[in-house]
Amino acid sequence: MKNILITGANGMLGQDLVSCLKEKSYNIIETDIHNMDITDEASVITFLSETSPDVVIHTAAYTTVDKAEEDKDKAFLINGKGSENLAKATAKLDIPIFAISTDYVFDGTKTIPYLPTDKTSPQTVYGESKLAGEVAIQKYNPKHYIARTSWLYGHKGKNFVETMIDLSKKMPELKVVNDQKGCPTWTVDLSKTIINILEKGMPYGIYHTCGAGQTTWYDFTLKIFELMKITTPVKACSSEEFTCPAKRPAYSVMNNGGLLRNWEEALIDYINLRSN
Ligand SMILES: NC(=O)c1ccc[n+]([C@@H]2O[C@H](COP(=O)([O-])OP(=O)(O)OC[C@H]3O[C@@H](n4cnc5c(N)ncnc54)[C@H](OP(=O)(O)O)[C@@H]3O)[C@@H](O)[C@H]2O)c1
Repeated sequence: MKNILITGANGMLGQDLVSCLKEKSYNIIETDIHNMDITDEASVITFLSETSPDVVIHTAAYTTVDKAEEDKDKAFLINGKGSENLAKATAKLDIPIFAISTDYVFDGTKTIPYLPTDKTSPQTVYGESKLAGEVAIQKYNPKHYIARTSWLYGHKGKNFVETMIDLSKKMPELKVVNDQKGCPTWTVDLSKTIINILEKGMPYGIYHTCGAGQTTWYDFTLKIFELMKITTPVKACSSEEFTCPAKRPAYSVMNNGGLLRNWEEALIDYINLRSN
């Protein structure tokens, strides 16, 4: 494994993944919508044939969860058809594909952490479209990894951690939802895990690649503010007080099987590296 093609290389995860791979001296073929639109089947097969990577890491996606509710066709085109195009092209060229998916494929009604083998039942258009991508990848390329992640944050993208820090400077007090549980995941930890799975030659299949442990958005905010020494008051509230177009899962905790460290340890490193 020397030449690695990344889709969504300009995205939040994509940029950190490129940096982590470069540190390990891999040859990276960076793609985004400008040089390989994953929804264009012909362009995908041509680009992959010309570049012949040893593996494709697929991070590109339609990621605006609320907008997807009224933009269903586009969400399915990118997350479903785009993933199908990549799965077919990689299979044709006998290249393994490593695709990133989401906790939103589950319905959030469990009370113990979701396992990769648990039944999927997405409750949102985004979740349905990502599941369509998973299904296509499994159908068309037997050499696949699907890594479901959640509550992603990184230095190079819009994310919850940065939003809360920004809001703390503008608002006298913040209200944050305390009845949704999940696993925050730093893009650097996820990138290292992707590389680890590939380098170890772990079996093809579905993995849960989120930070270990669990928290609520409210407790996550308290931890961010404690580490940042932010004193803006934070009040807990319920999901009912924050209506969003896309329903948020109450319980999004996944069992990562020891693949990533605890979310709090990762957050400390993220905050320490952050320029204030
Ligand atoms: N963020 C989260 O909390 C979260 C949680 C669970 C799972 N995930 C999954 O993790 C992965 C990475 O997420 P992220 O937050 O890093 O996403 P992101 O920052 O939104 O990056 C996605 C990238 O995909 C590109 N893209 C969109 N349509 C494309 C197309 N037709 N062809 C090629 N590239 C296209 C985007 O380009 P443009 O910007 O030009 O559109 C963007 O650079 C995604 O698969 C996402 O579903 C994310």
